[in-house]
Amino acid sequence: MKVMLVLVVLVVAVAVFPSHAFQPRRIMYARCSSEEKMPRAVFMTCANRRGICEVRIGNIHNLRAIFIPDTNATDVDSHVRWNSWFEVPLPNQQRDACDGEITCPVIAGQITRFTYSLDIQDFWPRNEYPVIWTLKDRVTDMTLVCFKFKINIV
Ligand SMILES: *[C@@H]1O[C@H](CO)[C@@H](O)[C@H](O)[C@H]1NC(C)=O
Repeated sequence: MKVMLVLVVLVVAVAVFPSHAFQPRRIMYARCSSEEKMPRAVFMTCANRRGICEVRIGNIHNLRAIFIPDTNATDVDSHVRWNSWFEVPLPNQQRDACDGEITCPVIAGQITRFTYSLDIQDFWPRNEYPVIWTLKDRVTDMTLVCFKFKINIV
């Protein structure tokens, strides 16, 4: 009886707080091109401890990229897409980074944190995806930072 109760409590806790179990960790990433600046570090809440970041359908996984921009910017575009045969933009993404994902204006030479809550919706086929993420100054169309990494939807 006691065991059953503990089990029920556990199941309810997991169902109610699905993403709280995941701690952010550093993930591997690569440069987009030689002209574009890379972040200093990228963190993500993954379902696994190491290797390609596993993300679960129905969960929200948080990403944080830390970078030092070369230019000031007041209006920043966030664009995430994955690169399979061609680039597919993430549906329903929040493109206005100044709306809570970054502190605006972005100041050249200052450590800048970009955070994003990635909602893994159930229409995504379970697979490994090469992701490309770019932050751009909307006024000058210059890339502030760009990085590529892989996620594994499980
Ligand atoms: C960027 O903004 C800072 C603070 O507002 C200012 O001091 C600096 O001159 C600006 N730099 C450029 C290149 O516009």
